[in-house]
Amino acid sequence: MKVFSRTWIWSGAITAFLLALTSNLTEACERQCQLNVSHAFADKYQLLSSLHFSTLSTKIEQSLFHGVPTTAYSSTEATNAIQHLQEAVTNAQRAWDMPLFRTVFDTIFVDEPQFRGDCNEPHRVDQPALGVNWTMADCHAMDYICGNPPSICHFLPMIKTRIERKLAEQLETTIGGSSGIVGGGISENGGGSADEADVYANFLGPALSKIVMTHPKLEMYQATIHGNLNQIQEIVKDQIVVETSYLMPGAGPVKNEKWKAEWDLEIKLLLLSFP
Ligand SMILES: *[C@@H]1O[C@H](CO)[C@@H](O)[C@H](O)[C@H]1NC(C)=O
Ligand SMILES: *[C@@H]1O[C@H](CO)[C@@H](O)[C@H](O)[C@H]1NC(C)=O
Repeated sequence: MKVFSRTWIWSGAITAFLLALTSNLTEACERQCQLNVSHAFADKYQLLSSLHFSTLSTKIEQSLFHGVPTTAYSSTEATNAIQHLQEAVTNAQRAWDMPLFRTVFDTIFVDEPQFRGDCNEPHRVDQPALGVNWTMADCHAMDYICGNPPSICHFLPMIKTRIERKLAEQLETTIGGSSGIVGGGISENGGGSADEADVYANFLGPALSKIVMTHPKLEMYQATIHGNLNQIQEIVKDQIVVETSYLMPGAGPVKNEKWKAEWDLEIKLLLLSFP
């Protein structure tokens, strides 16, 4: 009994101490804030990467049969083949979308420098009253990396670059087999070939095998169609490299033209709504 009451007194004292402490500290971007902000970013990047999968689909329609004599297939067969490969692209896109949220979350909250820790050394912003949001002035004032939402808001451009760099490299590898932005410079030896790219190895390649199996006349043109698909992958990969050239060291004040300025505001306001 005595032990219990002593424990109770201790825990009461600790709670009081913690309460006194936290009333002076600003609140961190807690779990819900982390999840919401990561989802907001992931949604935008899903939108941006979907453009590249759309290009894959369009190009397949335009140039799948380059170099294949029209006598080798009927128009129905062509339509079916294109449709089958476009479904493969859709599945590849789904597989790409799935880990996006996790990647974004880790990039913001796990990778270095981490947005965690004390935001009172030195003091920059006052914790808003209950039910009141942080302000853009707080976002401006919180000029070092720590755990509260205004700090994340302040460093949004840097966070965006971190996410963009990681995702651009991954998307290039997923579609083209290697990344031209690894190490910050264009390199042709980033690793795999178009065949090793996830999009080909797991989606387009198996779809092509199936098409050839069901259309025996196309079998002798399998290598040509395969080459066309690789070529299409290369085109999309090059597009990604060009679009992300602003991520290269020394690229200067170039911006991602597809990232809309109002998305910055949207995500900042979301962050600031977690007081
Ligand atoms: C955060 O996410 C939850 C669950 O998705 C949602 O219900 C809530 O509206 C979001 N909050 C904000 C401020 O966006
Ligand atoms: C806090 O910010 C959110 C998101 O911008 C907004 O919807 C909400 O009305 C704001 N709340 C207050 C009390 O201003």
